[in-house]
Parts: sequence; structure tokens; C-alpha cells
Amino acid sequence: MQNFIQYTPTEVVFGKGTEALTGAEAVKWGGRRVLIVFGGGSVVRSGLLKRVEDSLEQAGVAYEEFGGVKPNPRLSHAEEGVKRAVEFGADMILAVGGGSSIDTAKGIAHGAANPGVKLWDIWTKKVPLERSLPIGAVLTIAAAGSEMSDSAVLTNEETGKKAGINTDFNRVKFAVMNPELTYTLPEYQLACGVTDIMMHTMERYFIPGIKCQLTDEIAEGLLRTVIENGRIVLKNKQDYDAQAEIMWCSSLSHNNLTEAGRGKDFSVHKLGHALSAKYDVAHGASLAAVWGSWAKYVYGGALERFAKFGRKVWGVQAEDDQTAALEGIEATVEYFHAIGMPVSLKELGVAPSPAELKALALDATMNDSVKLTRIRPLGAKEILEIF
Ligand code: NZQ
Ligand code: ZN
Repeated sequence: MQNFIQYTPTEVVFGKGTEALTGAEAVKWGGRRVLIVFGGGSVVRSGLLKRVEDSLEQAGVAYEEFGGVKPNPRLSHAEEGVKRAVEFGADMILAVGGGSSIDTAKGIAHGAANPGVKLWDIWTKKVPLERSLPIGAVLTIAAAGSEMSDSAVLTNEETGKKAGINTDFNRVKFAVMNPELTYTLPEYQLACGVTDIMMHTMERYFIPGIKCQLTDEIAEGLLRTVIENGRIVLKNKQDYDAQAEIMWCSSLSHNNLTEAGRGKDFSVHKLGHALSAKYDVAHGASLAAVWGSWAKYVYGGALERFAKFGRKVWGVQAEDDQTAALEGIEATVEYFHAIGMPVSLKELGVAPSPAELKALALDATMNDSVKLTRIRPLGAKEILEIF
């Protein structure tokens, strides 16, 4: 087990009706003037936004709305939010929605606390981030794990680059998680969420050569849980217990618990971000489309890890590691398919030309300047083969 720091400061407020506690939570964490960040309208249609605003009013918290966040959220929209937050004198940014709204809220919090600094300069670490505003979240989709992660992802439309920033300033102070809020999700988004949760766990699992028994057991249990309950909610969205399991998996898959002692890789995410930046495809779907290809390309370098994954997550019985590894990969790809995810670029609905494929590989590897995966170093040439 390698040395590690475990820091998960987010207060989780979990369960039915918990959105009614948003006002009290905001006050507890210093919010008196709150900018509410939300997406394209699902929280308006469901009545959630109104319930959150009622709760803020009851707690004596002033608020202003800032909607219109798109999936794969844009830098320019977050910059607009910074302006609004500064004009309003916001002392807290509250996301009501999914990863896109939460990440936009994180961007707004950083920008509003550093007026005059370009948000992308913070994102690219040209300007070090030394202060931010407190952030809260009311989660409506179990997927990105942004409600507990130290990460935020924005797309810069000018450069066509989708990039994340990791910092403890991204840690949300409180996350309100009512699994009932996910009942209105379209099946495709449910499946994207399940895929992303699996991927956050798997991007930390396949690193060879480090022994971490407890971390492995947590990761394997989390994967089995999200796989099983993913099947259930795709048949019945209103299964509270199944949605609750998935929502809790979402947070624990990406709050660093499943990397304790081993660390992370996130190479498949680099491929997915390149695809989303270019084609605006849903994040979870972008990962499902390339994972099988990535896994078949690299598994030989981490045979024991892939074999363990096959046996512990999918119940593969094969005694030799080669067969167990391949059966585990096949089971994963079949599962993605079964829940309605694409497992190839074609199924993702994109058809890059050879030149565009090369550009994607260069984007994923920062112009071939970084090597991906901790299994074996992959540059642009190898990533192109995976694409
Ligand atoms: O915009 P609205 O109208 O709210 O609709 C959203 C959106 O169309 C809809 N939706 C969300 N909750 C709903 C709902 N529709 C009906 N009922 C509900 N309860 O779902 C669509 C997707 O929403 P989005 O917020 O984009 O989903 P998700 O949570 O998957 O977030 C994806 C974004 O997070 C980033 C991704 O790259 C992507 O940009 N990620 C953020 C991470 C982080 N900050 O730690 C880590 C992840 O790896 C990921 O990169
Ligand atoms: Zn992800």
C-alpha cells in the first residue's frame, strides 16, 4: 500500500425529502446570499427548484437564479455566472442538478472569489487558486460524483478543449442527495450515470503491482452494487432502494476512497473528454464507447488485476488469468450494451475521418506530450490505435 492522504470533507445529507434542509445547510456553511446554478430546465419542470427556493426563504437566505447550464458545460457560461455572482454579491454558489451544474458552480465560485482573473487561467493553473467561495449541491443525477470530488470539468469552446481542475477548493461543503429526485431521469442518462460510476472505480482499479486489500474489496463491492442496481432502475426508475444504492455509489466512486493506497489512472477519461469536446456526446456514453477497446489493448500489462476484476466483479470461474481477464472484459462490454450504452465510436454516433482520429489522439495526449495509463505508457500513436 502506497502512502496516501484521504480528505473527504463534504457533509452528505441523504434521503427522502432532504431538499427541504437546503436552507439550513446553506446557513450552516455561511451562505446568506446564494447564487443558484441549474441546467436546461429539468429542475424547474419537476418543481425541485421551487422547493429549494422555499427552503432558502424559510432560512432567511437571499438568492438569485442562474440557469442554462448545458451538459459538457461551457467556460463562457461559467464566466457569465461569475459576473452574475459578483453583481449579486453572492457568498455561496449552490448547484441544483448534475455534474454539469455542480462543475459550473465550482467554476463560478473560483472566478467570483478572484475577480479580474481569467477563469481559464485558473483552470490551466497559470494562476494558482488560493481562495474560492463555499459551494453547495442538491444532486439530481447519480453519475459524475462531483458532489464529493475534488474535480471540476469545463469545455473551452474557443480552444475546443475539455479539461478538469483538481483542487480541494472543488470540495462541496454540503451535498443534498434525495434518490427520489432521480425518478425523472431518461433511461439514457441513467445508463450514462451507471457507466460513469463504474468507470470512476475502474480507472483506479487496474493499476498493477500494488497490494491494497481493503481498497480492492470496497471497489469490487461498489462495482457489483452499481451493476446490479443499474439493471433494476432501468426496469423500474421508481425503485427507491436501487436508486439510493446507485446515488451512494456515485459519491463513493469519486471521492478518492477507491484509490486509497493505489492512486488513479483516468486515461479512459482523457479519451472520453476528447470525444465530448469534439462531438458534444454525453460523458458516460463516451467512456463506454472506448473502454472495451482500451481494455483489450492494455490488459496484458495488468493481467492479474483484470483477472481479479473478472472473478470478483463478474463471478468468472476460469482458473487461468488470461481467460478470466478476457471474460471480465467481455462481461463489462456486454453489460454496457445491455443497459443501452454504445460500445464503439460507430454506436456513439460519430464517424471521425482518419485525420480527425489523429486529432482526437493528439488532444487526449496533449499533443503527444503525456503518456496515458499506469499499466504501460501510451502516446498518441497507441491512443490512435485504441480509437
Ligand atoms: O440540464 P437539465 O435540464 O437539468 O437536464 C439534465 C441534462 O440534460 C438531465 N438531468 C439531470 N438530472 C435530471 C435530469 N433530467 C431529468 N430528471 C433529473 N433528475 O440530465 C442531463 C445530464 O446532466 P449532467 O449534469 O450533464 O450529468 P452528469 O452528472 O453526468 O454530468 C456530466 C458532466 O460532469 C463531468 C462530465 O465530463 C460532464 O461534463 N464530470 C465531472 C466530474 C467531476 N466534477 O468530478 C467527474 C466526471 O468524470 C465527469 O468528467
Ligand atoms: Zn467520469
